[in-house]
Amino acid sequence: MIKAPRGTNDILPPETNKWAYLEALLRRLSNTYNFQEIRTPIFEYTELFTRTVGETTDIVQKEMYTFEDKGGRLLTLRPEGTAPVVRAFLEHGLDSKALPAKLFYLGPMFRYEKPQAGRYRQFMQYGVEILGSPSPYSDVEVIQMGVKIAEELGLLGTTLFINTIGCPECRKEYREDLVEYLKDQISDLCPDCRSRIDTNPLRVLDCKNPECRKVTQDAPSVHDYLCDECEAHWETLKTILTSLGMEYTVDPTLVRGLDYYTRTVFEIKWPPLGAQDTIVGGGRYDGLAEQLGGSHIPGVGFALGMERLLLASDKGEKPIDATCPIDCFIVVAVGEDDGFSDDMYIRGFQLLQDLRSSGISCDFDPLRRSMRAQMKHADRAGAQYTIIFGEEEFRNSAVSVRSMKHGWQKQIALDHVLGFVKGEILGGT
Ligand code: HAM
Repeated sequence: MIKAPRGTNDILPPETNKWAYLEALLRRLSNTYNFQEIRTPIFEYTELFTRTVGETTDIVQKEMYTFEDKGGRLLTLRPEGTAPVVRAFLEHGLDSKALPAKLFYLGPMFRYEKPQAGRYRQFMQYGVEILGSPSPYSDVEVIQMGVKIAEELGLLGTTLFINTIGCPECRKEYREDLVEYLKDQISDLCPDCRSRIDTNPLRVLDCKNPECRKVTQDAPSVHDYLCDECEAHWETLKTILTSLGMEYTVDPTLVRGLDYYTRTVFEIKWPPLGAQDTIVGGGRYDGLAEQLGGSHIPGVGFALGMERLLLASDKGEKPIDATCPIDCFIVVAVGEDDGFSDDMYIRGFQLLQDLRSSGISCDFDPLRRSMRAQMKHADRAGAQYTIIFGEEEFRNSAVSVRSMKHGWQKQIALDHVLGFVKGEILGGT
């Protein structure tokens, strides 16, 4: 049998209800923070990512789903959302409209990674981007929103890690000194880091290998190389966070795996998730628009992995309820006299349509199984009420309405049942 590709997930009911809940929550919060949705294509020209995410990053070197289309164009399934958003922003001249632009997106991303819990080859990201604001208040706005999302999902004990990696100017001298330091210690570094010294030395700082960690502990810190503007931005950012009472940890080794970042980078982790515990990752990218041939449009944002957030929610204080109960279920007795039960069935089916037209969610059993099986079906669907078409009641032009929650059962005249159920469920409207 053909199976889904490795690293992808089929999301089945009732799990889909959790997704719908999370999406609704993210849309509601987007509105609270005044972000508007943007939708970009799932594939882009490969060059978009090589130029921005960076030739030497893991994403570009190892993880992109790249293919040539029938017209010979080199395309890539988007591994992330920031570069596409900035591309679309420039392409449609949004930089000449009111700034800052506050955009959010929600959709699948693709990375050829080694799959494990919380890490997939197709995964869903929700992200926000503020374009056109160099202000550290915008950094805090997105950081605070990331924290708020975790809070709303009942994830206690998240940790916010922040760092600054300066701008290309202050990084120039830093990079030289870092390379020199790392070259002196090269024999203690893992093979990946040895090659990173020349290609992407900053990435050595966040290597998880314990031997590399020992080396990087005493490495020069970018904090000692910041230019006046980057220093001021960094200090203001911390002051605003403190004034909001937000706890944070400065992690000088946090550099993140995408080359477009400047100044602020941050991650929000939730340790109970284990190895893949970063739920939110983001930062500032003031040079990205220019890298794409646009004008100087500073930007800051974050993205979160929705699968990880749902895994966390399941383990958290306030797991999302996956059930999606219906209001009522119509049960029809299966009689000896087929003509008679056909009548009941048709009448029951008509009532189903009337209830649905009134906005009441309901269902029935098209397989005409035993009453017991139908009651079970009603239970599985989480119905609050069952409407039972029994032979005896039906001969008296009535049906029984049973409250599954309170246990009562009442006979109601067929002509009044719609009004009765509407009254019960919609409160008499
Ligand atoms: P990122 O750190 O590569 O940043 O991804 C952001 C989040 O997406 C991660 O923290 C994680 O929750 C989730 N994620 C990443 N890869 C996977 C995967 N293979 N499976 C499941 N979840 C994953 C970015 O993508 C940047 N574009 C974020 C950003 C927006 N920076 C500024 N604006």
